[in-house]
Amino acid sequence: MTWTHTFDTSPDAELKGILSKDFHWGYATAAAQVEGAWNVDGKGPSIWDKLCHTPGKVKDGSTNEDATRAYDLYKEDVALMKSYGVTAYRFSLAWSRIVPLGGAEDPINEQGIDYYNRLIDELLAANITPFVTLFHWDTPQTLEDRYGGMLNQERYTPDFLRYARICFERFGDRVKHWITYNEPGVYTLAGYAGGMHAPGRSSYRDRNEEGDSSTEPFIVAHTELVSHARAVKIYREEFKPTQKGVIGITLHGNNSEPWDVNDPLDVEAAERARQFEIAWFADPIYGSGEYPACMRAQLGDRLPHFTPEQKDLVQGSSDFYGMNTYTTFFVKHRDEEPDVNDHKGNIEKCDANSEGKSRGPESDTYWLRTAPEGFGKLLRWVWDRYHVPIYMTENGTTAKGELAPTPDVLDDTFRVEFFNGYLRELATAVRDGVDIRSYFGWTFTDNWEWAAGYTDRFGVTFVDFESVEKTRYPKRSAYFLKDYFRHLIQEK
Ligand code: NOJ
Repeated sequence: MTWTHTFDTSPDAELKGILSKDFHWGYATAAAQVEGAWNVDGKGPSIWDKLCHTPGKVKDGSTNEDATRAYDLYKEDVALMKSYGVTAYRFSLAWSRIVPLGGAEDPINEQGIDYYNRLIDELLAANITPFVTLFHWDTPQTLEDRYGGMLNQERYTPDFLRYARICFERFGDRVKHWITYNEPGVYTLAGYAGGMHAPGRSSYRDRNEEGDSSTEPFIVAHTELVSHARAVKIYREEFKPTQKGVIGITLHGNNSEPWDVNDPLDVEAAERARQFEIAWFADPIYGSGEYPACMRAQLGDRLPHFTPEQKDLVQGSSDFYGMNTYTTFFVKHRDEEPDVNDHKGNIEKCDANSEGKSRGPESDTYWLRTAPEGFGKLLRWVWDRYHVPIYMTENGTTAKGELAPTPDVLDDTFRVEFFNGYLRELATAVRDGVDIRSYFGWTFTDNWEWAAGYTDRFGVTFVDFESVEKTRYPKRSAYFLKDYFRHLIQEK
């Protein structure tokens, strides 16, 4: 079913044409969540391939062996995206498809390169601009086995840099928008503090055999920051002069609001929560060049120190602020001393504030509620603090009850309302002077939501995972976005 009717944009009449002609919009995906073909055409295993083949680690017991079969169906997908009116597509490269063993001395897999070349060419032929992420959580398993992956900055960095260099060399003639890391914070927190994500390490022995949640997340984050900066240096010195692209990083971050606006301790706690979550990565790159003072105060030397050389490298190492954001939490201060494994700034997250106001309607994902106002506030917080152009690289929602592609499910009002609210905030922020240059909805099709398996459907396209063809069914939200962006973007 497709929806052809247009939407009533009259409530937003004053926002017509507020986004410039070269504003990019489309959908974002990640290799491990959509490609499938997990072990074909020479691809090596990643840490997620290992984790999802370990019983008990994924909610519905699924693997990403097939996912949405984007590897096989990329032509159909590009055609469908085209019909959705997008101007850009953000996807990630699977490191172990390009260098199956991952290391600097390991062989390149030409079949992997060939796949991405075909995908990029298909996009360009459809007039869709590729935004390419080098790393979206799928570390080659061999590097984990050889030396513990990112825990070993010294050995990991040259391997990552060699991989990055191959990508710039092979794809940079056509790719002009690069993202080094996707959500380095979630990678390290979910993989090394909570231990639910690959590589599955934490202090909790009922969950993980190894790990230390009080130190490892901060070590891995440091490796990500420094290796990101070194990859950017290579791009800027060796490739940018001829390829003329931009390069940056994408950070996660939800908005935090005080539980009790009249309690200065809650006001402080909300700000501290934003700094632990966002400024942890953003201050070293876009701000002071150091980790936030509140983190140093709580974590002491468990938080690594930047050497002067690292500080120089990291500061200014991103041409834009890549922003993934989904929701808002109310935040309450805690009177007790912080737990040694705390990484949130000694706060408690709440679904309602002191007056009983809910943070928003529930989605089908426990942490995610629709909270457009908070999004508007966060955009301004990031802009005021860092003053760099923002590329919105992910934003979207699940909706309850999306079990089969029935007319009711495909008429996804809940998701339409989410996007409507968030895009209105984005457009208003632009009107108020915030420099935002892209918007990528998460996500194009339902896909494999990591440790939640196929249970959380974020797509504007329903996927029948039971079918061999992974049949795609457009939801109404896909057409809403098409119409709404037509309204917001200036006519050429
Ligand atoms: C952020 C991640 O980058 C993406 O992989 C994930 O699926 C979405 N958020 C939704 O949780």
